Amino acid sequence: MIRAGGLSGPPHATGEASPQNLRVSGISMIRVSLLCCRVALVLGVAVSFAAASPQKAAAPKPPSNDDCLACHSDAGAVRADGRPVAVKPETFAESIHGMGGLACVDCHTDLATLAEFPHAEKLKPAQCGTCHEKAVAAYDSGVHAQARRSGGNLSAAACADCHGSHDIRPSADPGSRTHHARLLDTCGRCHGDEEIIKRGQIGIGNVVDLFKDSIHGKALIKSGLSVAPTCTDCHGSHDIRRKSDPASKVFRTTIPGMCSSCHEGIGREYWESVHGTQVAKGSPLAPVCTNCHTAHEIRRSDVEGWKLEVITECGTCHEHSLETYRDTFHGQVTALGYARVASCADCHGAHNVFPKADPRSMVSDAKRVATCQQCHEGATPSFAEFDPHADPENRERNPTLFYTAQFMKMLLVGVFSFFGLLTVLWLGRSVQLKAAGAWRRPRNDDATEDGE
Ligand code: HEC
Ligand code: HEC
Ligand code: HEC
Ligand code: HEC
Ligand code: HEC
Ligand code: HEC
Ligand code: HEC
Ligand code: HEC
Ligand code: HEC
Ligand code: HEC
Ligand code: HEC
Repeated sequence: MIRAGGLSGPPHATGEASPQNLRVSGISMIRVSLLCCRVALVLGVAVSFAAASPQKAAAPKPPSNDDCLACHSDAGAVRADGRPVAVKPETFAESIHGMGGLACVDCHTDLATLAEFPHAEKLKPAQCGTCHEKAVAAYDSGVHAQARRSGGNLSAAACADCHGSHDIRPSADPGSRTHHARLLDTCGRCHGDEEIIKRGQIGIGNVVDLFKDSIHGKALIKSGLSVAPTCTDCHGSHDIRRKSDPASKVFRTTIPGMCSSCHEGIGREYWESVHGTQVAKGSPLAPVCTNCHTAHEIRRSDVEGWKLEVITECGTCHEHSLETYRDTFHGQVTALGYARVASCADCHGAHNVFPKADPRSMVSDAKRVATCQQCHEGATPSFAEFDPHADPENRERNPTLFYTAQFMKMLLVGVFSFFGLLTVLWLGRSVQLKAAGAWRRPRNDDATEDGE
């Protein structure tokens, strides 16, 4: 349908009225001038219509979609520099905006008041804010908008990078770029592309590669679990912020709450534990989920490699406990790479960690025997007395061990001193003998000597 009133002005009655506003060259010149023939035709009809009904011309109407599509539905429509400007009418018609009856100029707002084609070569970006105020406000507070604004980092995502332009569908539609199952590719177009990571200065590097191998990535990609997290479940979609920003979903102290939105039961245990209560109190030293599990490389907890690595992770904060643990049988076996014996978490719990004095602790006096009995079936209270952190340097904690160690040390010193002295004396003696010539061993003249 052709809207009459708005398109007044000199009728491009003949095809040779080449549009001054469009720079044209080479092949595209032919195309653009072909396009213009059609538009001229359209405008010709429009203008003669306008002339016939002068009242309607007084209330100017914006150009209709058909006006725009007269040029842009041509599959070969390109800019002067060769980049395409074609719009598939069917694609747009099937999008949520097409179905909603939006006009081209609802988004391309600077053409809403256009009186005459052709339009300017360079247009303002499409405007979404007139209708999606909330989404735009959230996006504006996020890292992508910030990067585009402040640093002029144009590699950062704008609306169309995540949603597309003329093919936008609601997120619930499996064909949508923002559908749960497709978001990994949508974010991955940049966060998994080495070139853009470099150009866009994304400090953390290629997250997508890491994530694909994680338990969450496998659950999402291979198992097709709709409840497995994708990028936006942990980061949000519009107000994505840096981890250093306290309003970020991945700010250190916000992480346990974010992970527990799915892992609810573990969150409950964690917040009660010594680690969780310390974090809640604002301690910068106590661990959150990602200290032990990482963010993008999370693995199954029963994988042997991870069980061994997390011991080292506990040890980054509990250095001394790790040292004393390594002196024990359990510690030496895990150091050799076998996860069969007790790790830190087997005795202390993973999320329900408490100080020994707390009756909820797995190593409290009341629970300790049961803790050993998980593996040592016949463990008795006296077996459980064995100190898994025995420290030969600590007299108060392990007096017997301390004195035994002291005794062993003295014995060692005694033995070395005695044999050391002996060696020194023997050396002196041998030097003396050598000087006196008695040390030289007789050779060929053995017989002569004998003969004498
Ligand atoms: C006379 C044919 C013609 C008509 C009618 C027309 N366009 Fe264009 N349009 C072009 C050409 C040619 C270009 C490429 C300009 C260039 O060389 O970059 C273009 C470019 C564009 C661009 C890209 C601008 C940019 O900054 O990159 C948009 C958006 C656009 N048109 C939207 C519209 C809309 C919306 C309508 C309807 C109101 C419309 N066009 C009607 C021919 C037309
Ligand atoms: C929901 C908003 C929206 C509507 C409605 C819309 N566009 Fe666009 N259009 C965009 C976005 C977003 C872009 C990407 C570039 C930008 O941000 O300006 C774009 C880009 C374009 C371009 C440049 C070439 C390209 O694909 O990048 C043309 C031409 C264009 N639109 C024409 C049209 C025409 C013709 C219609 C009507 C049939 C239309 N648009 C309707 C949002 C819209
Ligand atoms: C980094 C990717 C990304 C960018 C950039 C982005 N979005 Fe979204 N958007 C999403 C995802 C993912 C969803 C669906 C998940 C959800 O509902 O939170 C969504 C949902 C929406 C929705 C429907 C739900 C709602 O919040 O109303 C609208 C509307 C929307 N976006 C508009 C916009 C606009 C407008 C912009 C630009 C100002 C924009 N988006 C920029 C990823 C993005
Ligand atoms: C003239 C108003 C208008 C403009 C401008 C507009 N939209 Fe929309 N948009 C709508 C309407 C109406 C819907 C359908 C709302 C619904 O069904 O909930 C919609 C739906 C959406 C949805 C799907 C929401 C969902 O339920 O998942 C997204 C995403 C979206 N728009 C993004 C954009 C983007 C990106 C732009 C700018 C390029 C834009 N819109 C420009 C009116 C507009
Ligand atoms: C068009 C490319 C592009 C897309 C698509 C994109 N991003 Fe980004 N993103 C960037 C760039 C570039 C930066 C770096 C901005 C800066 O630090 O200046 C960034 C920054 C980030 C940051 C902060 C990183 C930092 O170093 O501080 C997070 C988190 C993030 N993006 C998550 C996402 C998520 C989640 C999605 C998908 C929903 C997504 N991005 C989609 C380009 C993109
Ligand atoms: C299970 C939750 C989770 C998922 C899924 C996830 N992330 Fe993250 N991401 C985090 C956490 C937590 C951090 C903060 C890392 C830290 O504290 O070391 C982070 C950090 C980042 C950063 C660096 C932010 C900064 O400020 O330095 C980027 C970029 C990023 N993620 C992008 C992505 C992308 C892209 C995806 C999808 C492929 C994704 N993330 C999936 C939890 C997640
Ligand atoms: C101090 C280190 C540490 C912290 C902090 C931590 N975890 Fe764990 N997590 C572990 C260990 C160790 C295991 C393995 C437990 C086992 O083998 O019994 C584990 C196991 C898991 C499992 C698998 C279920 C299971 O018990 O085997 C999930 C899910 C999990 N953690 C999620 C979380 C979440 C969510 C948070 C934050 C609220 C968190 N973890 C905080 C160390 C930690
Ligand atoms: C959107 C929901 C969701 C979020 C958010 C989420 N997870 Fe998960 N997580 C899952 C699902 C579902 C699985 C099970 C995957 C499977 O078994 O295939 C899982 C598995 C795990 C496992 C392995 C459990 C096992 O059986 O060994 C760990 C560990 C884990 N998540 C930790 C975390 C941490 C840490 C965070 C926050 C940084 C987090 N998750 C955020 C849904 C989530
Ligand atoms: C990021 C550092 C960090 C990591 C990693 C960490 N912890 Fe802790 N842990 C702390 C802090 C801080 C406290 C509280 C210290 C205090 O109150 O004396 C604590 C307290 C404890 C306590 C109670 C000690 C007491 O006497 O109060 C135990 C037991 C413990 N952690 C075991 C573990 C185990 C087991 C792991 C590994 C699965 C682990 N921790 C990982 C920092 C850490
Ligand atoms: C075989 C069981 C067992 C293993 C394995 C174990 N612990 Fe312990 N841990 C204990 C017991 C029992 C206590 C209480 C000792 C006591 O009587 O004071 C304790 C005490 C602690 C304490 C409290 C401070 C202290 O020294 O009394 C911390 C912290 C701790 N362990 C961390 C760790 C870490 C980190 C690991 C792994 C590197 C680990 N534990 C491995 C059983 C174990
Ligand atoms: C996760 C299982 C596990 C837990 C929990 C555990 N152990 Fe062990 N421990 C082993 C295994 C396996 C061996 C290897 C010897 C064996 O097979 O009996 C071992 C060996 C030992 C040894 C040296 C060899 C021996 O049998 O005399 C001592 C001592 C010991 N454990 C004490 C303890 C004490 C005390 C506790 C409780 C605080 C404890 N263990 C908890 C698995 C465990």
